[in-house]
Amino acid sequence: MSKIPVWIDCDTGVDDAAAILTAGQLEKIEIVGISAVAGNVPLEKTTKNCICVSDLMGRDYPVYAGASRPWIRPYEDASSVHGNSGLGGAVLPEPSKAPEKEKAWEAIYREAVKRSGELELVATGPLTNVANALTLYPDLKDHLKRILIMGGAASGGNVTPCAEYNILTDPDAAQAVFRSGVKVYMFGLDVTEKAYVTRKELEEINEYGSPVTTFFHDSVEPRISWYEELGFPGSCLHDVCPLLYLEHPEIFRTEEAGVFVETQSELTLGKTVTDLFSDHQFEEKNAVVALDIDRDAFIKYMFEALKKY
Ligand code: RIB
Ligand code: CA
Repeated sequence: MSKIPVWIDCDTGVDDAAAILTAGQLEKIEIVGISAVAGNVPLEKTTKNCICVSDLMGRDYPVYAGASRPWIRPYEDASSVHGNSGLGGAVLPEPSKAPEKEKAWEAIYREAVKRSGELELVATGPLTNVANALTLYPDLKDHLKRILIMGGAASGGNVTPCAEYNILTDPDAAQAVFRSGVKVYMFGLDVTEKAYVTRKELEEINEYGSPVTTFFHDSVEPRISWYEELGFPGSCLHDVCPLLYLEHPEIFRTEEAGVFVETQSELTLGKTVTDLFSDHQFEEKNAVVALDIDRDAFIKYMFEALKKY
């Protein structure tokens, strides 16, 4: 059976790296391209990190650089969470190559047309590159199967009480994506904050002792204390969720919804407003929102993948 072609647009940081590593060993999917956007750390570092992770995997994925800043809002990184390099406590060798010459959005469009409607576009960072592609190439929406994002939250936030980092970093781009006409599968904090790895599980995977499991441990380990101080049982691996969904949708609970993004308000900027819990429904069910996950299965499948390298 032919594999599902998957493009990963990311701001490689710790959990983006875990997502790429996991996706690289899933049976049903084939990573056909990786693009970097400014987010957790600046574009130069996210681009370098994508290439370094590809090198660690022993793969030669084409990596493309994208936007260095959001559409309108000033760019704010998350290096306080992901470390100055973006890879937490891990150190990788210098990248084996430079990024490709094409801009991220050019490459996403080219690949989508080539895959004639089968390309799954997964975005685990701010949506600037994805929105650029949809805006510059109006027919892109006809060539994509779905857009799956780590971002937003039906309730709550992790930067403000109502906004999650990826959406808040570029709310205008996010709104363009939700309005694009392409179904958006939204893996927000509702589900990704349940997708955590505990300190005990992290030590267990570290005992496996391969370069990939050691990298995973070293990159995630500094964030465990940060999350524990916030009251979490472990470190949330947000970005793994949309990739694992492509292989194991059965471990998630999802609901169809209308979702749109607040781009004006000072108080609620970046909120993904859903009609999941309201009497009034949006006219358009433009999204599928993930609300729950079987965390034991999440850890099982992710660790199985990390051990396969
Ligand atoms: O809010 C979590 C998201 O922001 C994750 O994608 C993490 O990598 C950061 O980009
Ligand atoms: Ca990310």
